[in-house]
Amino acid sequence: MPLADKFGRQITDLRISVTDRCNFRCVYCRSADPETHMPSANLLTWDEYVRLARILVGMGIRKVRVTGGEPLVRPGVEDFIAQLKALGVPDLSMTTNGHLLAERCDRLVAAGLNRINISLDSLDRDKFERVTRTKTFDQVIAGIDAAQASSLRPVKVNAVLVRGLNDDEVEAFASFARDRDLIMRFIEFMPLDADRSWTRDMVVTGAEVHDRISARWPMVPVVHERSETARKFRFADGRGEIGLISPVSQPFCGHCSRLRLTADGKLRTCLFSKEDYDLRFLLRGDATDREIGDEIHAIVAQKEKGHRINEPGFVPPSRTMVSIGG
Ligand code: 5AD
Ligand code: SF4
Repeated sequence: MPLADKFGRQITDLRISVTDRCNFRCVYCRSADPETHMPSANLLTWDEYVRLARILVGMGIRKVRVTGGEPLVRPGVEDFIAQLKALGVPDLSMTTNGHLLAERCDRLVAAGLNRINISLDSLDRDKFERVTRTKTFDQVIAGIDAAQASSLRPVKVNAVLVRGLNDDEVEAFASFARDRDLIMRFIEFMPLDADRSWTRDMVVTGAEVHDRISARWPMVPVVHERSETARKFRFADGRGEIGLISPVSQPFCGHCSRLRLTADGKLRTCLFSKEDYDLRFLLRGDATDREIGDEIHAIVAQKEKGHRINEPGFVPPSRTMVSIGG
């Protein structure tokens, strides 16, 4: 039976976090202080992920995105992708910070990865180093080069805009998209940072980004699926595409088709869920695939109508982005 929630939303899209570790410490995500990680015994094994993925594909999941933390820091991720491909997942993608991508791109393609999203929050080396707290700008650009030279399509580059940090680069990012003929996506900063420093005035809205870019280069809307998070635009005069992801100023929860699996085997029905549901316990017990499937149906039925970022008394989830998976 296909997965659907009580609001009639079909669930076709799964994000799998394969680690809560990351070789970056982006300011809008992690803390500068040492953080604790999930004990390795709590991480799902590749076999456990594959079993769950098989069950979920049987329930109508068509899109799978592999995330982290940083997914390329967990050894064996290419084999995992090959196993997902073998399950018949038609749309297989990954979100990465790009640091290790240049050297891994060929193997990801060979494993059957279809497309990729790479984070890049500044085109200015010094600022990039401040945002990510690493000196890896050249490697990330090399990762984007490798992705564009490979058969991965589309290549999307994601920037989280934070007021006062990188909001001066909107036009530069748009230019980057045009020059390189790639999809540049601007993501509104969400209250999922480890430091809990998010405030509403740090959010740079999609509307502002749209107005600034179209003042320079007229843009034309691109038709897209309802469940897509981004509003898309192409340039009237040429190459490249812009995506505006505006979860704060224009929530897209009404058409949400997503489910998330954390690295420690919890199923989450929303980024902002207060609760998650332990599947590891079932996987390591004697539950049959049928029983696990029934449990997943019951969990999905409980999917919340939407996030409450804009409601009074909003409380962020106890997990931050790095341990949920973007
Ligand atoms: N708000 C918005 N996006 C975030 N990401 C990480 N933390 C946040 C946040 N607080 C993004 C990353 C990447 C994706 C996995 O999620 O930059 O693009
Ligand atoms: Fe790592 Fe991504 Fe978080 Fe940056 S945003 S610290 S790259 S998980």
